[in-house]
Amino acid sequence: MREHLVISVSGKGGVGKTTLSALLTRAVVEKTKRSLLVVDADPVMNLPRAIGVEVNSTVGKVATTLRKDIDEGSVPAAATKQDILEAEVFESLIEDDRFDFLAMGRTEGEGCYCYVNRLLTQILDTLTRNYEVTLMDMSAGLEHLSRRTDRNVDVLVVVIDPSRAAYEAAIRIRDLAKEVHIDFKQVVVVGNRFPDGMEEEVRSMLEEQGLTLLGMIPNDDSLSRLNYLGKPVFDLDTDSPAYVAVESLAEKLGLLDEATMLKLLGQA
Ligand SMILES: Nc1ncnc2c1ncn2[C@@H]1O[C@H](COP(=O)(O)OP(=O)(O)O)[C@@H](O)[C@H]1O
Ligand SMILES: [Mg+2]
Repeated sequence: MREHLVISVSGKGGVGKTTLSALLTRAVVEKTKRSLLVVDADPVMNLPRAIGVEVNSTVGKVATTLRKDIDEGSVPAAATKQDILEAEVFESLIEDDRFDFLAMGRTEGEGCYCYVNRLLTQILDTLTRNYEVTLMDMSAGLEHLSRRTDRNVDVLVVVIDPSRAAYEAAIRIRDLAKEVHIDFKQVVVVGNRFPDGMEEEVRSMLEEQGLTLLGMIPNDDSLSRLNYLGKPVFDLDTDSPAYVAVESLAEKLGLLDEATMLKLLGQA
């Protein structure tokens, strides 16, 4: 199997995680021929619209059904559960000609999904090996870290906007990842919608916390407009400031060329 790179996008709510995930998706699609899996791990599910896909089935729905079956005793051996779930997850996979897409959605009902979640993490692990690049748009909460949904992630990208809360969330995310022993190869921060001229200040503040600023995305009115109209980021002008900035971030993240990717993975 070829090398594969798994990147997840985290951060406080509303800072631009979905926007960055969508723009990175576009950069990989338009600048490379790499096989790409895009995962919406946020139950709110804003990513499908941002990249122009329609979702009919989610992993959460599938997991809910399996859990009900387990509770009712209609599923026998452990191996079978894994097989059933795996088959259903593959069924939920949307194959677009530009990329494959999987929506995690949400599980329903009370009680513990620990068992099903563990199976899902394994399945996601296996699935991502089939793609050169996997991009995951995470939820604002931190449950994904404690559940270790991120355990196979190589690079954790944390988005911040110009707010103290976003900065503090970034530090909390980094600390929690350490606590639960998720060993990212890199943790980087992307600043979104900061006023001009703040970059160096932001960089040095993050450095004091041991965090690296990968780059900035400027506020971009055409992006707000597109979002409000419910249109995908593929409709954005190629020379729009946000997309130009994200192309450069994609390059730094090793999404656009093999050499940078291998270096990131520590294999060059
Ligand atoms: N650089 C930007 N310029 C203009 N609008 C942006 C920018 N980044 C995000 N937005 C807008 O901010 C809102 C929240 O962004 P979103 O990516 O959905 O955040 P999150 O996924 O972190 O909750 C959306 O309406 C989005 O269009
Ligand atoms: Mg989002």
